[in-house]
Amino acid sequence: MVSNHAPMVRATGMSREGGDMHITILGGGGFLGRKLAARLARDGSLRGQAVTGLTLFDITTPQPPTGAAFPVRCLAGDVADAAAVAQAVPADTQVVFQLAAVVSAAAEADFDLGVRVNLLGSLALIDAARRCAVPPRIVFTSSVASFSGSQQAEMPDDARQMPLNSYGAEKAAAELMLQDASRRGMLDAVNIRLPTVIIRPGRPNKAASSFVSAILREPLLGLETPLPVGEDFALWVSSPRVVVEWLLHAAAMDTAPLGTDRGINPPGLTVTVREMLAALSPAERALVKQEPDATVAGIVGGWPARFASARARRLGFQEQVGLPDIVAAFREDDLAATRAERGL
Ligand SMILES: NC(=O)c1ccc[n+]([C@@H]2O[C@H](COP(=O)([O-])OP(=O)(O)OC[C@H]3O[C@@H](n4cnc5c(N)ncnc54)[C@H](O)[C@@H]3O)[C@@H](O)[C@H]2O)c1
Repeated sequence: MVSNHAPMVRATGMSREGGDMHITILGGGGFLGRKLAARLARDGSLRGQAVTGLTLFDITTPQPPTGAAFPVRCLAGDVADAAAVAQAVPADTQVVFQLAAVVSAAAEADFDLGVRVNLLGSLALIDAARRCAVPPRIVFTSSVASFSGSQQAEMPDDARQMPLNSYGAEKAAAELMLQDASRRGMLDAVNIRLPTVIIRPGRPNKAASSFVSAILREPLLGLETPLPVGEDFALWVSSPRVVVEWLLHAAAMDTAPLGTDRGINPPGLTVTVREMLAALSPAERALVKQEPDATVAGIVGGWPARFASARARRLGFQEQVGLPDIVAAFREDDLAATRAERGL
């Protein structure tokens, strides 16, 4: 696949390449990729082994985390470009986190872009993984959007993926291919269907679920924000802190108990918009303005809000904590940086 984005390398940290535990994060410049990289830099180890190299790959050169005691390569490239991905996944790679994606509303607006990044990107990763000395662990972030169901439905662990949008279809298709590549011994994948992750720092984005973070983040910043759905609307959510725990657990766990089924519905939290607003002060709550939006409601309205997640709990995936903790974590981890980024 041809790319306009030639890989560019910026090395940081120690100069030694390769070694025992080389990790790559595709989409390493994004919201969750940056948090995961920061955590790896802090821990310095994964699976009880010292990290000996980390590659961050994104469409523009990602920033390295601070304080890493191992070398960090920061590459710019297109995840659908097999040659660029091969460069990001050297032969000694043990773990790849595949987080690169275009988000739901963007993939719905541009079918070709969504297929290229969200599906062909994972096929390029399979290609790269096959060149590794040992089949690497692939941790793939799939999505709640790969399912559909009513607000009342509780999805069992073996629920069928019937996406109602192109993003969800691309995620489900990528999952199937990673699962088959695992069966063939080309790699060793764990596909985590993430709930909507709140509270996303920064600005509103093109995800249909952008409002889910915005109705908490914007009032905490003292800003008004629209609410496109009703207050009874239920959502399946998780916090960035717990998602990072899930990603690390997926990277370290024994995959033998998974058998052929590589999909994980993690133990997320079911909340209504009303419950979310109750986590705000009355003054903050007044900044959230009802503004029904049929397009947004149409996309997120098809995402189930309840999952059984019994298998994930059995496999040791951490339970999502409640809303007050999620809001407190945002205040602690991201509020100041978001204010600074937005000049508030
Ligand atoms: N945040 C959520 O609520 C949520 C929910 C379910 C699933 N997910 C999935 O988790 C993953 C990470 O989510 P996030 O919130 O960090 O998203 P994000 O948009 O912040 O990060 C994704 C990264 O992928 C990069 N990217 C896009 N196109 C690319 C391309 N062609 N080549 C290389 N990189 C490219 C982006 O630049 C971005 O940095 C994504 O795969 C997303 O679909 C996220």
